[in-house]
Amino acid sequence: MDPEHFLRLLPEGWRPWEEVAVRAGLSLAQVRALAYALRAAGYPVLLAEERGVGLEPGCPAPQFVLPRLRGRLGRPYRYLGTVSSTQEVLRAWAGVPEGALVVAERQTAGRGRLGRAWLSPPGNLYLSLLLRGPPPHLLPLRVGVALAQAAGCGRLKWPNDLLSPDGRKLGGILIEAERHRLLVGVGVNVAKAPLPTAAALQEFRAVRRVDLLVEFLELLEGWLACPVARVLRTWQELDGTLGKEVRVRTPQGVVEGVAEGLTPEGGLRVRTAQGERVIRVGEVGLPPPEDVVDPQEGEGEAQGGGSGEGEGEGPGAAVEEGQHVAHGGVREAREEKEEE
Ligand code: BTN
Repeated sequence: MDPEHFLRLLPEGWRPWEEVAVRAGLSLAQVRALAYALRAAGYPVLLAEERGVGLEPGCPAPQFVLPRLRGRLGRPYRYLGTVSSTQEVLRAWAGVPEGALVVAERQTAGRGRLGRAWLSPPGNLYLSLLLRGPPPHLLPLRVGVALAQAAGCGRLKWPNDLLSPDGRKLGGILIEAERHRLLVGVGVNVAKAPLPTAAALQEFRAVRRVDLLVEFLELLEGWLACPVARVLRTWQELDGTLGKEVRVRTPQGVVEGVAEGLTPEGGLRVRTAQGERVIRVGEVGLPPPEDVVDPQEGEGEAQGGGSGEGEGEGPGAAVEEGQHVAHGGVREAREEKEEE
């Protein structure tokens, strides 16, 4: 039996070795070998001579996810241990239909927006979802709303960061467009905050990854079909920057002022000393959360919090590579430069 097949037979939590061996129709020695192989591949396998074997509670293995999926998102499903980036795994997964989903336990080369790294230790949620065809208007905002609602805590920061109630980064969204495919990548710090400027969802809510995943897919399916006006209204209800002083890095330079919500096209309105500016591409910085000192500030190296300081410069777009989507649809990269 190959390890992936065996994985699907593993129960949640500790079970005696003998019970698992009987269930799988294998010898104890075979069960041990397969369990060790899965752990070496990065899967969250519990295993101890005296306690037995099983999967970490809340892990998004297919046997716990697939029976709960009610819509079209999440099938076919690939659940992996250690990968470079779920975006790359999905990109290489040829011929799969809309809704195909890749989830991994950890990434060695996770990517964030603006060419940044996305630190991906085990215990968090890393997923890439395939959508086909022209993206629905305001796709990044729709994904952000679904994510914030599934997380059940925190606020959104334009264009699509999920921040904790105290302004640290909980999650992010990276949407990459290929010719007829959109790779929607989502990372959420569930158990571990990889940086001081980041937060973990479990600091605020007892949440299991499997529940977060299933909830997100179900909510996203609804938001993908939702009228634009409702998307904008709900996004603004979840907006963590509304009425706050912001410092936005744009391809044309830094814009400082007070965030005043979104335009119908999904741009960010900022009230500056010279009047209102509408930002279509950029990275919003907020004052840093109190008591948070970021040793990596200024390095622009990996996902940070809401401060925005030290975050990479350059054209920011909510959908990256090849074609860029700001918030309204797919556009050529050069058009993004004509911001405002
Ligand atoms: C951001 O910069 O805020 C976006 C972060 C997106 C990270 C996710 S994790 C799953 C998927 N695979 C990646 O390499 N990146 C995205």
